[in-house]
Amino acid sequence: MLDTIPSIVPPAPPIHPRDLPPIRLLLGSLRNSLAIWPDYAFDVAFNRNTLFGLESAFINDPSGVRHIMATNAANYVRPAMTPRISRPLIGRGLFLAEGGEWRRQRRLLSPSFTPHHVDILLPHFIAAASDLVRELEGQPGVDLSAAFQVAALNAVLRALFSLPDQGERDRIGVLVRQYVTGPGRPQLFDAFARSETSFAFTLRRRRAFQKRWFAAVDAIVTARRSAPRDADHRDLLDLLIAVRDPDTGQPIAADEVRDQCATMIFAGYETTARLLFWASYLLTLDHNEQARLRAEVAAFPPERIKTLDDLGHWPRLRLVLLEALRLYPAVPVLVREPINDDVIMGEPVRRGIQVYVAPWVLHRHRKHWQHPTAFMPDRFAGQSSPWTSGGAYLPFGAGPRICIGAVFALAEAQIMLASLLQRYTLAIEDRRPVMPVGRLTIQPSHAPMFKLERTRPR
Ligand code: HEM
Repeated sequence: MLDTIPSIVPPAPPIHPRDLPPIRLLLGSLRNSLAIWPDYAFDVAFNRNTLFGLESAFINDPSGVRHIMATNAANYVRPAMTPRISRPLIGRGLFLAEGGEWRRQRRLLSPSFTPHHVDILLPHFIAAASDLVRELEGQPGVDLSAAFQVAALNAVLRALFSLPDQGERDRIGVLVRQYVTGPGRPQLFDAFARSETSFAFTLRRRRAFQKRWFAAVDAIVTARRSAPRDADHRDLLDLLIAVRDPDTGQPIAADEVRDQCATMIFAGYETTARLLFWASYLLTLDHNEQARLRAEVAAFPPERIKTLDDLGHWPRLRLVLLEALRLYPAVPVLVREPINDDVIMGEPVRRGIQVYVAPWVLHRHRKHWQHPTAFMPDRFAGQSSPWTSGGAYLPFGAGPRICIGAVFALAEAQIMLASLLQRYTLAIEDRRPVMPVGRLTIQPSHAPMFKLERTRPR
């Protein structure tokens, strides 16, 4: 139980007294998927809706989530909209694989994400954090939202490909951003598509992008195969190239290595950038918490991090990140489609409808959280990995398809934030609240300028 009185309630869109009318709901969900929820959604366990003939069910209870994402996960696939948007970027990698093919890929990839292997990646995160700090040096006001996008992409590209060459990293970064802000933006056609290839005329720009993108990633993978790195400087690509199928002894095929690399970039960069932004924003609202974190980091500076165990020296930093992921889960809504009729929590659901699990709602549900809208990192005290407990906390999804990069992401975020807090006090002078906007991830309504005040001499 939390015995402190909550004093900080960070910004969130207003909750509606009742369901929005259909047109407002449709347009609103494209504009901001967090601003469409009626008050009762934060109390009920299950709800249905029909919008222009599209039937949907909302699951707001841990037992229902377990049913869809674990017990009967084989019956639930990602809807057509997901591969339409993400296939051009990630091909046939883990995120889009289904059934036996997904099981094969997950079994082969999981060993590369164990804590032992994430240890290998820590120097890459430390290098990316140094780049970030250098970039921010001497700037009076900083758009941290943009800076974290660059830094998180830098971190994942360093961890994957050891790309020390800034020019090469920028080239990849430009391509990814071109896609997510251009042809990869969800459109109305995507929401109504019944298959990955419906409304084919809307997919031309995505296909054209895919050719250029895959050629760029292929070039990096091919160069590595012809010039392997030494054992002391390994990265995720080395781990993927070294993987052998335990049944056949075969390595992963070249185009699959490319698709898995692209998947890790897509799944790992914007999500972590958003976590870093919201955690920093929350710290500007809670100066005491920020001071506590600074003391924690001063007692064990980032230069001393050698293994994941060392991150245990920053327990409050971890609590703050967990609470940031609760209040602003980087992925606010998860969608599935049942392939056969099913019954969820006693409620019949027909095949082909859209089944929604919204971490945004579950993380603020009044039956599952005390003071659900307040910033209270202590609620996670004593829980090392609360996202695995099968409760109402799902920042990384749930069940067998839970995020494979959770340990990677938290380690990276801890190192980045610690490196900032070691040098700076974070503040925002503009008192306009930064509103969360739900798209594929939770974005800020506007990019506030952060003021970074030096806390120790250079
Ligand atoms: C704060 C950062 C992150 C958050 C909040 C996050 C969140 C999630 C969520 C919610 C899912 C499940 C999606 C669903 O079930 O539909 C997921 C899956 C996945 N994530 Fe993450 N993720 C993060 C970072 C990363 C990183 C750094 C990587 C890789 C380097 C990564 C790789 C993946 C992959 C490959 C999947 C698909 C797993 C599968 O289907 O078996 N993620 N992530």
